[in-house]
Amino acid sequence: MHRDLPIGIFDSGIGGLTVYKELRQLLPKENIIYFGDTARAPYGSRTKEEICDFVDEIMQLMSLCSIKVGVVACNTITVLGTAMLSKNYNFELIGNNTGAVPALRDSKSKRIGVIATETTIASGKHRADILALDSRAVVFPRACPLFAQLIEAGSLEGDELRQAAYHYLTPLKEANIDTLILACTHYPYITLLLQEVMGEEVVIIDPAVETARQVQDYLAENNGLKINGEGSSHLYFSNRPEQVRDITGKFFDTTKCEFRLLDITPLARYYANNLSANASYLG
Ligand code: DGL
Repeated sequence: MHRDLPIGIFDSGIGGLTVYKELRQLLPKENIIYFGDTARAPYGSRTKEEICDFVDEIMQLMSLCSIKVGVVACNTITVLGTAMLSKNYNFELIGNNTGAVPALRDSKSKRIGVIATETTIASGKHRADILALDSRAVVFPRACPLFAQLIEAGSLEGDELRQAAYHYLTPLKEANIDTLILACTHYPYITLLLQEVMGEEVVIIDPAVETARQVQDYLAENNGLKINGEGSSHLYFSNRPEQVRDITGKFFDTTKCEFRLLDITPLARYYANNLSANASYLG
């Protein structure tokens, strides 16, 4: 693995930038390429076939960029990972962490809530991970399909989002959970609202911290950590990059980031005809 090659991160839209933020903080020297499919987000309520087709296209882009590792900064894609095992690429993919370890570490009552897209909740992956570590835990999963849609549109404070938050989270509050996992990378944008609804005593877990650490460990184990110079950030979106810059500028320092528009469909078409990809998937 060549140390100076970029890390590739991708998501259905702007959510994966919450993982980018953690990774940038942890690994300031790394070159990072991000792709957010903002033209087709959200993915969470789409069919498995649709999502797999879109991910194939993103993989073609990542291959073209010669990344040294791919970070699936999307739980929805991560839980469908096995469907993509049939495809091979010449870089490893690291899926989004479930947050089971920090949730069990911080929870006293072991009553843990999980909020995510419909696809992620239907997979049962987070519940299974938590129960595998502690069979006494009680998990309360809740799909919140409106969240990603509203966040993607940049409505981070409006009445609709607030009403949705109370609607989705009230049953979890009534279930007396003491820890809540944000199992969708879009949700850290609205942590303050979620904390307000749940109350200060509930611990909110953003698994992006663990995902970033996993990437760091993988690169360290494979002599792949970039040693010199400041890292670059090339952030590509299939729609409205300037709006993404405005939204995300409130959450992390975007001054050294390049935001660009990128239509990946023609690229995917070209590479599907001209390249044979090969590699493995870490779900
Ligand atoms: N941010 C994504 C996730 O973590 C998906 C949101 C969506 O596109 O529905 O699941």
